[in-house]
Amino acid sequence: MKNISNTVSKKPWVAWVLFIATLIFVFLLGLFTYTIIENRAEGQFAYVTTTDIDPMDPRAEAWGRFFPRQFNTYAQMADTTFRSKYLGSQRRDLLDENPNMVILFAGYAFSRDYNLARGHYYSVQDVQETLRTGAPMNPEDGPMPATCWTCKSPDVIRLMDEMGTSEFYASTLAEVGHEIHNPINCASCHNAEDMSLKIALPALAETFERMGRDINNVSHQEMRSLTCAQCHVEYYFGEDNYLIFPWDEGMRAEDIAYYFDQREFADWIHPLSRAPMIKAQHPDYEIFTTGIHYQRGVSCADCHMPYTTEGGMKFTDHKIQSPLNNISAACQTCHRQSEAELIRNVYERQDMVHDLKMKLERVLVKSHLEAEFAWNQGATEDQMRDALHLIRHAQWNWDYAAASHGGAFHAPLEMVRTLGNGLDMAHDARRKITAVLLELGYTDDVSLPDVSTKQKAQEYIGIDLEQLQAEKDRFLEEIVPQWLQTSLERQQRWDEQKRDPDHTGSYLQ
Ligand code: HEC
Ligand code: HEC
Ligand code: HEC
Ligand code: HEC
Repeated sequence: MKNISNTVSKKPWVAWVLFIATLIFVFLLGLFTYTIIENRAEGQFAYVTTTDIDPMDPRAEAWGRFFPRQFNTYAQMADTTFRSKYLGSQRRDLLDENPNMVILFAGYAFSRDYNLARGHYYSVQDVQETLRTGAPMNPEDGPMPATCWTCKSPDVIRLMDEMGTSEFYASTLAEVGHEIHNPINCASCHNAEDMSLKIALPALAETFERMGRDINNVSHQEMRSLTCAQCHVEYYFGEDNYLIFPWDEGMRAEDIAYYFDQREFADWIHPLSRAPMIKAQHPDYEIFTTGIHYQRGVSCADCHMPYTTEGGMKFTDHKIQSPLNNISAACQTCHRQSEAELIRNVYERQDMVHDLKMKLERVLVKSHLEAEFAWNQGATEDQMRDALHLIRHAQWNWDYAAASHGGAFHAPLEMVRTLGNGLDMAHDARRKITAVLLELGYTDDVSLPDVSTKQKAQEYIGIDLEQLQAEKDRFLEEIVPQWLQTSLERQQRWDEQKRDPDHTGSYLQ
């Protein structure tokens, strides 16, 4: 056999033929591989007729029929066994673990009952069961407006479409109780026709509009966080309980406090200190945007809904949970460190934030009790004004940080900054109260009540837990089964009814 380099040196065109033949072969091979991959991807969607899904259908099973992998991982949220050092999906009584909060929330529903969130799968049940929503035996009974349901169920999307958004917000929680059945699911985040991501609830889009931004004009990666920002944000109820995100002055604690101060807004008047308080909700998105992961373009879904594979098929894991239960998919796609090292990194940040949070909490509890003491000594509104203003803001800073359960990892520096400012204000508040007591001629030590357990603290502020629980049990036994019955009948009619050809997505009763 002749040496190939000999041939080539004699007949250079042979090299060209070989070269071009190789090119064609590689091209065909590439085409072939591409077709295999494409067919495989199509395999997943081959039997998918997404047009069959009504965009207002609030049932996860109805959507899940077409997307079994996403549905199956979604359904895994039923499991609530995971627990990390501070978080996880177990229902835990946070007031029992931390009785300071009973005093901080005195006069507000959170002093009755405050559990750690179990997850999306339980969003409706948890609202029905918490003592915070009371025991509304009649539709017109309070204490809560329908607005509370907004981030708990895709039935809300359907109801807003039927009733109108303002009318929905203006109802009571109990009036629409029989309409709310399905926990957060597919319709909360997806368009039915192509399963692209969707902002399904109005508040976020309205906020963007006020800020001169268009929610339809954001990148795909942004959407992977903004779908979460429909709910995981700070909010308040405006006129007629209309849901508003107070971002007009900015998203940091002090920007939002300024927004509320301008409107002289208070969620409640604290019964011990008489300070006009603001309750923070869960500014997860706001705090996340100040952290390094957001700044490097990482989205909520990257850690809480990482890609996973099944039978060689890549898809999005819909079990939304603590990423510490899934480090390999949630973190090790980007970080090469060991699982133990990454967990250590998370706990180290959480420990430091927790430590500062507890310091602020203890000073705040004292400031409420000392303010109460000062009132009892005959202090006047004028004398107390500055101290109460400081208590309002110190507790707002505490709550803004505390209510964002993931913040200590998402943006530890911002958390420490916010809590540090709060600690400064809380100490100032105590100094002002001491000055008031001196003006009143009181120079002894202030003896504070023992509020060191949940029971003692609740007794001190006059909560009768047994009675609240008895009322709640009656509500759960008598009212909730009626709601369930109505919902199940309505859901059955979904498949039976013929849809209007000019269908706008409305669900016709
Ligand atoms: C429609 C509103 C809504 C949307 C959209 C939403 N959440 Fe939630 N989320 C909630 C509510 C309400 C809870 C608390 C539910 C409960 O425990 O009863 C919750 C709980 C959680 C929890 C706590 C679960 C646990 O194990 O303790 C995590 C984590 C979470 N959400 C992440 C996300 C992420 C990430 C996104 C976006 C991909 C998202 N959520 C989108 C409303 C929402
Ligand atoms: C809290 C928001 C949220 C909920 C609820 C949700 N998804 Fe998703 N879904 C996402 C995100 C985020 C992605 C990733 C999309 C992307 O990056 O394009 C996704 C992707 C998908 C995809 C595209 C393929 C894939 O796996 O990436 C399908 C199909 C899908 N989801 C189906 C469902 C179904 C079915 C349900 C209900 C059982 C559901 N989703 C509930 C947020 C959600
Ligand atoms: C999509 C990629 C991506 C994922 C997923 C991801 N990270 Fe990161 N992480 C980054 C980038 C980028 C940085 C910034 C580092 C830099 O730019 O040098 C970072 C920074 C960090 C830091 C340092 C932050 C600080 O406070 O200084 C820690 C700790 C960390 N990540 C832990 C985690 C953990 C734990 C997870 C999973 C829950 C995770 N990361 C998931 C990309 C990622
Ligand atoms: C870089 C990874 C990463 C990103 C991105 C991320 N998170 Fe987290 N998140 C975590 C980790 C880690 C925890 C702490 C979990 C623990 O301690 O068990 C956490 C905790 C949470 C919790 C509390 C979970 C619980 O078990 O109670 C919520 C809610 C949450 N994140 C929502 C979000 C939202 C909303 C976004 C986007 C705005 C987001 N996260 C972005 C990693 C991430």
